[in-house]
Amino acid sequence: MVRDAIVDDKLAKKFATEKDSPYTRWIESEGLDIIPAHYVPDLRIVELKPWDRRGGLGVFINHEASRTSNDCYVCEIPSGGKLAPQRQLFEEMILVLDGQGSTTVWNDAGDRVSFEWQAGSLFAIPLNTWHQHFNGSGQRSARFVSSTNMPPVINLYDDVDFVFNTQHDFENRFDGDPDYFANKGEQKGLLLDTNFVADAVNLPLIEAKERGAGGGHIRFAMAKGSMNSHISQFPTATYKKAHRHGPGAHVIVLSGEGYSLMWLEGEEPKRYQWGPGSLIVPPNMCFHQHFNSGTEPARYLAFKHEVVSIRNGQGVPKAWISQRIGGDQIDYADESPLIRTAFAEALAEHGLEPTMDQFYEAELADLPPKSNEAVVQPA
Ligand SMILES: [Fe+2]
Repeated sequence: MVRDAIVDDKLAKKFATEKDSPYTRWIESEGLDIIPAHYVPDLRIVELKPWDRRGGLGVFINHEASRTSNDCYVCEIPSGGKLAPQRQLFEEMILVLDGQGSTTVWNDAGDRVSFEWQAGSLFAIPLNTWHQHFNGSGQRSARFVSSTNMPPVINLYDDVDFVFNTQHDFENRFDGDPDYFANKGEQKGLLLDTNFVADAVNLPLIEAKERGAGGGHIRFAMAKGSMNSHISQFPTATYKKAHRHGPGAHVIVLSGEGYSLMWLEGEEPKRYQWGPGSLIVPPNMCFHQHFNSGTEPARYLAFKHEVVSIRNGQGVPKAWISQRIGGDQIDYADESPLIRTAFAEALAEHGLEPTMDQFYEAELADLPPKSNEAVVQPA
């Protein structure tokens, strides 16, 4: 059983100082807040504070479990403004939420590449390259959300000057190719090998049936980074299979409307309504399930970190494997009847009905027997 295991204040107090870390102290020294939540209704309007060192505004968002692996922050560049140049010994992936502008990336060898972005653009900053973001509009602000693996890096060195001011070009990460941030890429299985996606909201996807209803999917490993990300889409009046995994998946809704249920094993599911700009960060080993109750396909981007994937002996993430054989995905056949009635009610608000029967049916072909239904093989 994985429960939240809440204890009395006396025991909690003994560990209180361990919640503090070089990473959290650094954010405090930047004058910024950490929103300690696993759900933000709309990143596009979440409140920010002045971030003087960078020349914009910002807020960090991470709850307990993702504070030691990867994090998330939102940053705004004022109209007509630019952020200060920065280099950093951690990786960063960026989704533009609002506005338009450009970024220049360069290294100490003198290679320099600039590219333009707009709302929906997705890219990564190559490790330790200098980079500077510019707002391309004099009328409106530009806002982006980033996921980084800054927490373990700052916690390891506990030396901000080293993390942000070390002169070293990682030549295998950034070679100054003028097309480095071109909007093109080679597809390798589920992976799109690229460093820049101009429009993640409308990027063509690849079919992936393992995760439930009508799934379109594509994976990225940008700027030769160790963190990965993927986009998933599913049709109206459908929902995905519930699953659970380690902490650090930052799910950002790109389009569509719906809700997610999240629950720790043995507890009641809680419901989180979403639309474009919503962020959901499923806590460690917390079941979660995404429902499209709107009238359009729903698409989300997930920024991840390797600790998200708890893998079996073959290297397959257990979140892709049926709970019936020891994985962490709940098959439709095994879900609570309440899941289906609640979904039908949510769709009825839009005059829609579930279109899940075909997916319940399709699942049966590969559904492993329940352990107490195991077929006895002849000797
Ligand atoms: Fe997940």
